Amino acid sequence: MTSDKPKHTTTDAGIPVSSDEHSLSVGQDGPIVMHDHALMEQMAAFNREMIPDRQPHAKGSGAFGHFEVTHDVSKYTKAKFLQKGTKTDVLIRFSTVAGESGSPDTWRDPRGFSVKFYTEEGNFDMVGNNTPVFFVRDPMKFQHFIHSQKRRADNGLRDHDMQWDFWTLSPESAHQVAWLMGDRGVPATWRHMNGYSSHTYMWVNNESERFWVKYHFKTDQGIKCMTQEQADKMAGTDADYHRRDLFEAIQRGEHPTWTLQMQIMPFEDAKTYRYNPFDLTKVWPHDDYPLMEVGKLTLNQNPTDFHTQINQAAFEPNNMVPGTGLSPDKMLLARSISYADAHRARLGVNYKHIPVNMPISPVNSYTQGGAMRMHHATDPVYAPNSKGGPKADVERFPEDAVWATSGELVRAAYTLRKDDDDWGQPGTLVRDVMDDAARDRLVSNVVGHLSGGVSEPVLERAFEYWRNIDQDVGDRIAKGVKGGQP
Ligand code: NDP
Ligand code: HEM
Repeated sequence: MTSDKPKHTTTDAGIPVSSDEHSLSVGQDGPIVMHDHALMEQMAAFNREMIPDRQPHAKGSGAFGHFEVTHDVSKYTKAKFLQKGTKTDVLIRFSTVAGESGSPDTWRDPRGFSVKFYTEEGNFDMVGNNTPVFFVRDPMKFQHFIHSQKRRADNGLRDHDMQWDFWTLSPESAHQVAWLMGDRGVPATWRHMNGYSSHTYMWVNNESERFWVKYHFKTDQGIKCMTQEQADKMAGTDADYHRRDLFEAIQRGEHPTWTLQMQIMPFEDAKTYRYNPFDLTKVWPHDDYPLMEVGKLTLNQNPTDFHTQINQAAFEPNNMVPGTGLSPDKMLLARSISYADAHRARLGVNYKHIPVNMPISPVNSYTQGGAMRMHHATDPVYAPNSKGGPKADVERFPEDAVWATSGELVRAAYTLRKDDDDWGQPGTLVRDVMDDAARDRLVSNVVGHLSGGVSEPVLERAFEYWRNIDQDVGDRIAKGVKGGQP
């Protein structure tokens, strides 16, 4: 016989509680008592509900789904989840970069595009953005960059002056800034934007041949963006607009999809390509390396517990499965250390035991102990051993996503190649990709941004920065800020 009575409340130990409304007290009007464990547990758990925000990318949300390979790319990679016909469960998290966890979704900012593939060879994480490039190319500048986008030390306010101070002293930021100030700097929804690995990664095939690759997840919903005016209005009326949009679309059965397309560069090309192919501030023009279709990513399942499934999700660019790997991009190499460290600090050393972070493949590692450990350690607890413990298998899993390197230890920028300059590609974006109307909106967005508290000499440097990207656009911006018609 089924009962329509609600379940009875218990403590976290499963013990029935006799009231949801009254604490235990000495007489009806007397003081409460400390051995009312149900009350004590409730207060203590409440005090510990909040965990630290992610340092960057604090505001976001996500969903579950799958990725299906539709085209044969076996001549480029042996990764099992990338073989034609294979379907892999995924988790995705979208985010803004600079805002805190309650900040408006429609602030102008790049968007995070993190995908965790639960493959049979372990978790593969693609932690990208909705832009193909980034603001800096050396990890030494990343923390400074993020600080310049967040809040001042004195008054806790965000400050356009420090943003432009950093950008104009860092000309390598020009491509990403031009991208950000254009239409795509505020997507209409997360469903209507692309995702890019931005970095160059590696693929390795069954013959141990290596390829340099870039991942492009192209939205099948079409690109849609918000104007600055629409974004400002939305920030005031629905700060969670993008989170709500994704959740409601999936709830309605409108499952967003993205087509994964790859740019693939033969290993040897990297030595002579006209751009440094590992410089994160550059794209590989499509004419040089055209997009190749690989598969489709579909989101069809909402989280049911935001905290355990989205807040506690831990993405890390170092999660590369056999047939995939990193590249000599200095930023990517730094990221391969930073994220796991962030997770240990934010979630604890055993963050991979949180169900959303657990691989579907067996875990046979020798790590043990630590707070909140869930897996049972088994003997032997050391290697090498003659007691039947796990043994690394170099025949099946050779270290083949590798490259040769040598040189003195130096602190220096990448060697410049023929076309490596900071202004060329942003200039192409502004002049050749944007049409007149998009360029007008770009100018208006920059004028608005620079008019929001940017002082001399930063302002003059900002005009020069834009003139370096495009003389006419720079002149129009200067005129607009000085009160003229841009
Ligand atoms: P293409 O003409 O082949 O491609 C232009 C690219 O620009 C397309 O990927 C398009 O995306 C994208 N795009 C269109 N409008 C905007 C916008 N307002 N803001 C940002 N991106 C936009 O050119 P190339 O490959 O030769 O690259 C030219 C420039 O395009 C680059 O310097 C770069 O700034 C930009 N770009 C290049 C990309 C690449 O990987 N090569 C990727 C994205 C931008 P979509 O097809 O999705 O509409
Ligand atoms: C989040 C570091 C560059 C995309 C984070 C976090 C750290 C970090 C510490 C928080 C992680 C967490 O607490 O869960 C760095 C460093 C970088 C770098 C050190 C450069 C040296 C980039 C680049 C991209 C990127 C170039 C995109 C191509 C993201 C995304 C998230 C994130 C999408 C959010 C992950 C999520 O959804 O949980 N980054 N980052 N980062 N970063 Fe980076």
